[in-house]
Amino acid sequence: MSKVIKNGTIVTADRTWKADVLIKHDKIVGIGPDLHADHEIDATGCYVLPGGIDPHTHLEMPFMGTYSSDDFESGTRAALSGGTTMVIDFCLSQPDGSLLDAIKMWDNKSTRACCDYSFHMAITWWGEQVFNEMPEVVERGITSFKHFMAYKGALMVNDDEMYSSFSRCAELGALPMVHAENGDVVAALQEKLLAEGNNGPEAHAYSRPPEVEGEATNRAIMIADATGAPLYVVHTSCEQSHEAIRRARQKGMRVYGEPLVQHLVLDESEYANADWDHAARRVMSPPFRDKQHQDSLWAGLSAGSLQVVATDHCAFTTEQKRTGLGDFTKIPNGTGGLEDRLPVLWTYGVATGRLTMNEFVAVTSTNPAKIFGMYPKKGAITEGADADIVVWDPEKTKTISAKTQQSAIDYNVFEGIKVKGLPKYVLSRGEVVVDDFQVKAKPGHGQFVAREARGPVSTALSQWKEITAPRKVERSGIPASGV
Ligand code: URP
Ligand code: ZN
Ligand code: ZN
Ligand code: ZN
Repeated sequence: MSKVIKNGTIVTADRTWKADVLIKHDKIVGIGPDLHADHEIDATGCYVLPGGIDPHTHLEMPFMGTYSSDDFESGTRAALSGGTTMVIDFCLSQPDGSLLDAIKMWDNKSTRACCDYSFHMAITWWGEQVFNEMPEVVERGITSFKHFMAYKGALMVNDDEMYSSFSRCAELGALPMVHAENGDVVAALQEKLLAEGNNGPEAHAYSRPPEVEGEATNRAIMIADATGAPLYVVHTSCEQSHEAIRRARQKGMRVYGEPLVQHLVLDESEYANADWDHAARRVMSPPFRDKQHQDSLWAGLSAGSLQVVATDHCAFTTEQKRTGLGDFTKIPNGTGGLEDRLPVLWTYGVATGRLTMNEFVAVTSTNPAKIFGMYPKKGAITEGADADIVVWDPEKTKTISAKTQQSAIDYNVFEGIKVKGLPKYVLSRGEVVVDDFQVKAKPGHGQFVAREARGPVSTALSQWKEITAPRKVERSGIPASGV
């Protein structure tokens, strides 16, 4: 059956224009004036955007002795209700385990996904097996590899392991990613704070100052440059990290930065709240920062030194958070945001003039599609693209509340924030999954998206690294020794 979205204004990363969008089955097949189909969706007064892509989620993630509470079904339902039509989650292998087994595990978790999804692969240890399995991971369309520089004793990898893994990524045309915090210093600060009796959730923020993130970002950039790999820095939360990324880009390095919508809008004063639950619910790494960092992140998005806005959606219930009563290091790290990312970013970004509508589309959809090797199948309103489309009503308002959310947890870090701009219709590969603001998500509809390696950036970078590689100077005469 064909569908047409009529009377709307299409907004893509590079232009804004009035046209109808014709859809057959799961694809966009036509864009232009006065198109007709079996079924019409009226977009009068609305913008027509490519569906949001959140490239950083942790659904049903095994972490800190528990599992994050939104699984692929509730998490992707939440995503769709907020206009996000694709997520990229992180496969984690067992300690010393097989990467291919991790894929199997994540394939099983994702069978009831309501929207399309892909995976990154986390490199949590290094050895011959990991080296040998990486090519098959890439062949299966998982073309990005995440490295945790924090979480010492659990997920953390060291510099030599990162060097080896980044080198392998460069060979395979894959993209290394980092969670950039100096895990050794965080562990030492945690111990010191606890010994001093500083055991509340605010100490989580004290143990992870911006310098710890800035140092690790610089270190990861240096290692990526030494190995000839590009680099994607997840959850860039502060000026120190942004500065490192900005400087690297100005030197011609292929480095990307990803602020989270939480860090753009919420600040460290949340941890001073007298209510333990309130503060603990906002414990995530890196923590929320002083407001001055928010200005830096917003500026980075408009200047182009930061490219993506994600959520790092990793939702724990209040009960799960309470595991850390009396010891902040045991509070499961993570916050939600999947269903609020687009409305919150629109309200605080587009409606204030900090972002244009086209920049909004770039950072929430088109840039992640390009960076992660799936453009223009995803992230585009163009003929032949998947019909992942949001009909966005810029006048519709709501007050964010846990009472009305799709996410499975019992609170929302954006509780009480009034947003203006919401998805009226959402299409996932041509199926209407939000219909006049009503969520009609279909568990099992979501499909795995295999992504490409050796994109234009990694190809260009490896060419440049080859041209500029150190070369032995050939000399005709060798001086006699001892002269
Ligand atoms: O606190 C966070 N960010 N939890 C999720 C895991 C991670 O570090 O991304
Ligand atoms: Zn007509
Ligand atoms: Zn992280
Ligand atoms: Zn994460």
